[in-house]
Amino acid sequence: MKLVGTVKDLQKELMQASDTAGVGFVPTMGALHEGHLALVRRAVAENQLVVVSIFVNPTQFNDPKDLERYPRTLENDLKLLESTACHIVFAPSVQEVYPKPDTRKFNFGMLETVMEGKFRLGHFNGVAQVVSRLFDMVQPQIAYFGLKDFQQLVIIKNMVKQLGLPIEIVACDIVREKSGLAMSSRNELLSAEQRENAALISQTLFAAKQLSTQKNVQELANWVVDTINKNPFLDVEYFEIVDDEQLQAVNNWNEENTKVGCIAVFCGKIRLIDNIVFN
Ligand code: PAJ
Repeated sequence: MKLVGTVKDLQKELMQASDTAGVGFVPTMGALHEGHLALVRRAVAENQLVVVSIFVNPTQFNDPKDLERYPRTLENDLKLLESTACHIVFAPSVQEVYPKPDTRKFNFGMLETVMEGKFRLGHFNGVAQVVSRLFDMVQPQIAYFGLKDFQQLVIIKNMVKQLGLPIEIVACDIVREKSGLAMSSRNELLSAEQRENAALISQTLFAAKQLSTQKNVQELANWVVDTINKNPFLDVEYFEIVDDEQLQAVNNWNEENTKVGCIAVFCGKIRLIDNIVFN
């Protein structure tokens, strides 16, 4: 496994590795956990050459405190990545990714005005900026993203379409802790007590799936919010049941689309997201 920090070194490594092998790519912001590693292992199983990037992208943080607090654990990340047998780790500086400010404005229409887009203004523009730059640098054939960030996945697919990039986007299942809590780098910022209580988020989503045959969409959404908000450690920012393509609110279980319940919850100062597919 090679660690590189510049585009020049990255391209040298890619050229040396092979000029025929397809490149599989897993972009991350580090503080790696099993969720990330599942993506990397899948990429290693499906590609001759795998690049993992570790870059905490400042342009996607709408809250400077969140950027400041974001865990940075490069040494441990490298140890974990060694175990996956991935080939190249690209950990660039901010200067390397943004030699000058990226002023591009993407337009994702309705996809970016709901949920994360509504509560984290500019977030997806920053995600699109960094992912498009990383795609440019790595030139992958396939890139792997987690379903944990469901809206991000839909937006990246849309971006690839808009830019006409020849890159296949592969969606990977959510990896959870034993308690059901979706793995996240931000879980590390929770106290033991908060972490225990945060498990109620996924437990409520699982229960909601069972209840979806008994309650209508609005009743179920209210039930999820009330159940979680009853816990003094948790405060729901939004829970939306949307279709999996346009991400627009679903009003009726009979609508012919795949429905996903997406949630954001504050646990103290830490904001956690999760989702569940209903059909
Ligand atoms: P990050 O939060 O580090 O996540 C990197 C990738 O890992 C994303 O595709 C995310 O969906 C996936 N992932 C995180 N937790 C997961 C889990 N529990 N199960 C499955 N997949 C999981 O998402 C980002 O970074 C950034 O926005 C990025 C795309 C790298 C752009 O900066």
